[in-house]
Amino acid sequence: MTNRVTKAVLPVAGFGTRFLPATKSVPKEIMPLVDRPLVQYAIDEARAAGITEFIFVTSRGKSALEDYFDSAPELEKALHDGKKHHLIEALKQTDMDSGAVAYIRQQERRGLGHAVWCARRLIGDEPFAVILPDDVIDADKPCLQQMVEAYAEHGGNMVAAMEVEHSRVSSYGILDVKSESGASMKVQGMVEKPQPEDAPSDLAVIGRYILSPQILRNLDTMDSGAGGEIQLTDAIAAEIEKNDNVYAYRFQGRRFDCGSKSGYLQATVAFGMARDDLRPEFVEFLRSYLENDAPKPAIRAV
Ligand code: UTP
Repeated sequence: MTNRVTKAVLPVAGFGTRFLPATKSVPKEIMPLVDRPLVQYAIDEARAAGITEFIFVTSRGKSALEDYFDSAPELEKALHDGKKHHLIEALKQTDMDSGAVAYIRQQERRGLGHAVWCARRLIGDEPFAVILPDDVIDADKPCLQQMVEAYAEHGGNMVAAMEVEHSRVSSYGILDVKSESGASMKVQGMVEKPQPEDAPSDLAVIGRYILSPQILRNLDTMDSGAGGEIQLTDAIAAEIEKNDNVYAYRFQGRRFDCGSKSGYLQATVAFGMARDDLRPEFVEFLRSYLENDAPKPAIRAV
């Protein structure tokens, strides 16, 4: 089987409860960092890695996501008539080749593993990437591209890994590593959301994966795991037992957990600061805000 990866699954069927009430009607993946929605960062990263087919696993209430990647003739005409060329250019980021994007519904939220399994017929019998758009990774070479290059050498299954604080391991899938060679590590165990005292390391799986189709077959027979959900981690861990072909990749770059309020705010500051058109005013605001001991606004984001 070839190690070439051209399909990516983007599971976006979750409720995004940490951002309620906003996510009652706005999918988390459409929330912007400055002026680009989280999902745009994911698509750009995937394209840089050579992905040409995008499979979104969605749910009720996510139509804004489908509209985002659709054409918008009236808007385009208005921008054209108004000679707003830079905005027409900005809209081009959302262009998708006809047939390059597919939407599959996960009717019941039964976990990340189940969401990926819902895409099995579109994935077929080839390796595929999984991208969680709420993990935004800022890197000189996009994270998935780093992984695809490493994956070409050994195939199997690969997860993106980073060190987390020991007290935070219960929020992640945690890795037990057997050996390391450069950025690639051979994995001998994985456990979903362990208590700190049970964690085999502080090395966490974050939202980028390259998986063999065998994972889909493992998911076929999977029962609920941690939190009563069908866990992708369990289906990958089963491959350690069966084929000993699971690798973790210690990527270069900085990951922002935009599924959490704190991570989202940090990413907003970092990406805002990186924009030449915003930076001078933004820096000035932050400096004076902090010098004045961060005065609380009268209207609170409760
Ligand atoms: P999260 O654990 O972040 O859940 O899911 P969530 O619903 O997005 O957010 P909170 O925790 O309620 O605030 C991780 C990823 O898995 C997807 C989510 O959409 C997200 O991209 N997912 C999770 C599904 O697609 N289906 C599921 O059943 C569960």
